[in-house]
Amino acid sequence: MKIGCPKEIKPQEFRVGMTPNAAMEAVAHGHTVLIETGAGVGAGFADADYVAAGATIIATAADVFAQADMIVKVKEPQAGERKMLREGQLLFTYLHLAPDPDQTRDLLASGCTAIAYETVTDRSGGLPLLAPMSEVAGRLAPQVGAWTLQKANGGRGVLMGGVPGVGPARALVIGGGVVGTHAAKIAAGMGADVTVLDRSLPRLRYLDDVFGGQFKTGYSSAGLLAELLPQADMVVGAVLIPGAAAPKLISRAQLGMMKPGAVLVDVAIDQGGCFETSRATTHQDPIYEVDGIMHYCVANMPGAVARTSTLALGNATMPFMLALADKGWKRACAEDAHLLAGMNVHAGQLTYAAVGEALGIATVDPKTLVA
Ligand SMILES: NC(=O)c1ccc[n+]([C@@H]2O[C@H](COP(=O)([O-])OP(=O)(O)OC[C@H]3O[C@@H](n4cnc5c(N)ncnc54)[C@H](O)[C@@H]3O)[C@@H](O)[C@H]2O)c1
Repeated sequence: MKIGCPKEIKPQEFRVGMTPNAAMEAVAHGHTVLIETGAGVGAGFADADYVAAGATIIATAADVFAQADMIVKVKEPQAGERKMLREGQLLFTYLHLAPDPDQTRDLLASGCTAIAYETVTDRSGGLPLLAPMSEVAGRLAPQVGAWTLQKANGGRGVLMGGVPGVGPARALVIGGGVVGTHAAKIAAGMGADVTVLDRSLPRLRYLDDVFGGQFKTGYSSAGLLAELLPQADMVVGAVLIPGAAAPKLISRAQLGMMKPGAVLVDVAIDQGGCFETSRATTHQDPIYEVDGIMHYCVANMPGAVARTSTLALGNATMPFMLALADKGWKRACAEDAHLLAGMNVHAGQLTYAAVGEALGIATVDPKTLVA
């Protein structure tokens, strides 16, 4: 199969869909890998790295799209890219179609088969191609929060780990899933006094079993939050209710019970944010202040560490990419229900029920396509 990887064109996107290692694996499986020139530069991979891996460098995105049987990307195809997709072509990337009727319409019109990273599942009910980005964002959250806590950035001037004789910062992590667990691990590793709140007792039991010595756990309730907020130097918002907007767990009025210069890091901002005063920010202008409380609400946090994020995403996508290339989408999806769960569009039909419900478009059960 010819696998094409164009340079990402969404503003501020520095990741790339294929690492040189992924290209090398695909070439070893007998495939041809076509990389648009400069595609990997933002993540620290030169064209020469891809050439050394056995890939071919292509001058333009148009040529990559024209020649490839499968396009492997990171972000959803932008309008210009969607025009280059064609019938029978396979697209493997993040799509997030539910809030995006224009993209959905264009993908349906193209006739391509589109498999979305974010809906591929795994045996434990998780989302294996979303998890690496949650791991990155979670680990980044205390890092950016610690920076925001510095006086020059508007914070209250508290060092995460304190020093001998001076106590550490108090970090509160709301939501103990992938983001929250990684945030808590790093905050605890920086020496902060960390408490993680969640609503899932099995999750709290797991966190207590595995990390009992490193951080405390609490059952997330309005009462406990009101008790802990006045003590917190940093609050990380890491909740997710699948398929729903994030619940607003801290109101504007509650900012008044926090210490001036305390920091809110709202990782859940990509689902609307879990603090009433959150609004999405960018890496160029990441923080703002409301009522004396600093907010960090960057919606694409992994972009800050494009190289780590690219490598982490590449590790997760590689087996699926190879299965699609080796077997073609039909056999690969027939043999792996978790990959089939990723199919959102096929030959002009929408194949993902939740997207259909969100956009009011009829869907076809993808199982009927591989039967
Ligand atoms: N900003 C970014 O760049 C970025 C990057 C990755 C992920 N995210 C977002 O971070 C959020 C968390 O993702 P995740 O992968 O950790 O999800 P996850 O499903 O692994 O974890 C979410 C956790 O929130 C808990 N929860 C739900 N309601 C709660 C409540 N009221 N109080 C406390 N806990 C509650 C759930 O029980 C679950 O354990 C998502 O919105 C995700 O989209 C943002």
